[in-house]
Amino acid sequence: MVKMKFNYVQMEMNGETDHRMNGNHSAFGLKGSTDTDTNQSSYEMLEDSDEEEMVLTNELILDPFCDPDNPKTISFNDVSAAAYKIKGGVEKTPCNLSQMSKQYDMKLYFKKDFLQYTGSFKERGARYVLQQLSEEQARKGVIAASAGNHALALSYHGHLLDIPVTVVMPIVAPMMKVEACRLYGANVVVFGKDFGESKQYAMQLSKKKGLLYVNGYDHPHILAGQGTMGLEIIEQVPQIDACIIPVGGGGLIAGSAVALKNLKPSVQIIGVESERSTGFQEAMRTGHPVYTPVGQTLADGLAVPVVGCNALATAEPLIDRMITVKESHIALAILRLIEQEKAVVEGAGATGLAAIIQGLVPELKGKSVVVALCGGNIDTTALGRVIERGLAAEGRLVRFGVTVSDRPGGIAELTKRIADLGVSIKDILHERAWLQTDVFSVTVRCVVETRDMAHAKALEKEMRKFYEHVEFWLDQ
Ligand SMILES: Cc1ncc(COP(=O)(O)O)c(C=O)c1O
Repeated sequence: MVKMKFNYVQMEMNGETDHRMNGNHSAFGLKGSTDTDTNQSSYEMLEDSDEEEMVLTNELILDPFCDPDNPKTISFNDVSAAAYKIKGGVEKTPCNLSQMSKQYDMKLYFKKDFLQYTGSFKERGARYVLQQLSEEQARKGVIAASAGNHALALSYHGHLLDIPVTVVMPIVAPMMKVEACRLYGANVVVFGKDFGESKQYAMQLSKKKGLLYVNGYDHPHILAGQGTMGLEIIEQVPQIDACIIPVGGGGLIAGSAVALKNLKPSVQIIGVESERSTGFQEAMRTGHPVYTPVGQTLADGLAVPVVGCNALATAEPLIDRMITVKESHIALAILRLIEQEKAVVEGAGATGLAAIIQGLVPELKGKSVVVALCGGNIDTTALGRVIERGLAAEGRLVRFGVTVSDRPGGIAELTKRIADLGVSIKDILHERAWLQTDVFSVTVRCVVETRDMAHAKALEKEMRKFYEHVEFWLDQ
């Protein structure tokens, strides 16, 4: 049992102090710390200036809309009803032919749901859930646990529809997203060391305050709302042969597959997960959602340890194939989308293209393929690192070390050899003191820009031709 006392107004994260009670948007402020030894969290929180002691219990509060013993499937009618209801409230995003079609030998269309107002498809389901509330529930409001896109979508549409929204976000949620939810007028509670703790606490608050808990990937109305993306796709690309959809908890693929397969049964539905979060494939294998540990992934939107039971029951019979992509290919996909499509897409939203880049769908050559680019909320600092990771994965940013003579001209000779190959040096550092070799040698570490992997390999060959000690780090 984790005990919390609600009486504090500052929060420390990553060494920075965040004054969370400043401004009118916040009804709660808190102090969070994670005890790494015991792996337990403790928080102090202030609610409307009332001091009250609260306890995060281990009591299992069930979500009546997501009962693993009695999963609900949604129908085409549900998706159609959602489309009718949310029309005008969310964007009908473009789904156009990509310049990359030739490169991958297929007619490649991108469904650009990252262009929604809050940057993801999550608005579809969020708006529909809110529109379906009873008058009384709409007055009381809703609550959700989310580290990102679902929280943003619910906060924004709650604001538009004048429905109170509380979002519980884990302390690891990006600061930008926490602040955005506040700006949309939501009651933001930052609580929990991970999504599991946030959800447990949100369930507890929902019971205590009579708020409806909205599971972001499994509430039946969420599934129906997300399905409207599938309806739009088939209207925009009627010749579609296959649709590649990122999978987290499974809401997007479930709703969209219902729409697509009903209108065109021949469409191949392909789900994608990161190699670091394979919960949906595990659930399909075992027949029910199972806890599957998730690792650090660029596709943080897909990192769901226990997928949705309704999503699984709805999607499982409609999915033709599930595939797993590598983190390095997700980075590469983000980079290619920026460079070639002028599109800023977050890791989760880029996994569909990552599958194509990784060569995992050779059967789609020559076909009309729609890839859902379903979110664009990538942290700006993360984006910089991802671009570098993507450049490294493509062999366009290379790190190597080479031991050269410490005589005058030794380093000049090295840089000339690099320049003669048309390689550009970004960083160069030479080390003398820690060398194990003779005192007349120096190790030079370089980060260089190359055109592609072949160019990087030509550089490696050239270095090995002239120098005995060469270390190369090529990301392949
Ligand atoms: C950008 C993005 N893509 C895909 C997904 C996966 O959606 P679902 O959880 O409905 O499977 C998410 C979930 O948050 C997301 O944010």
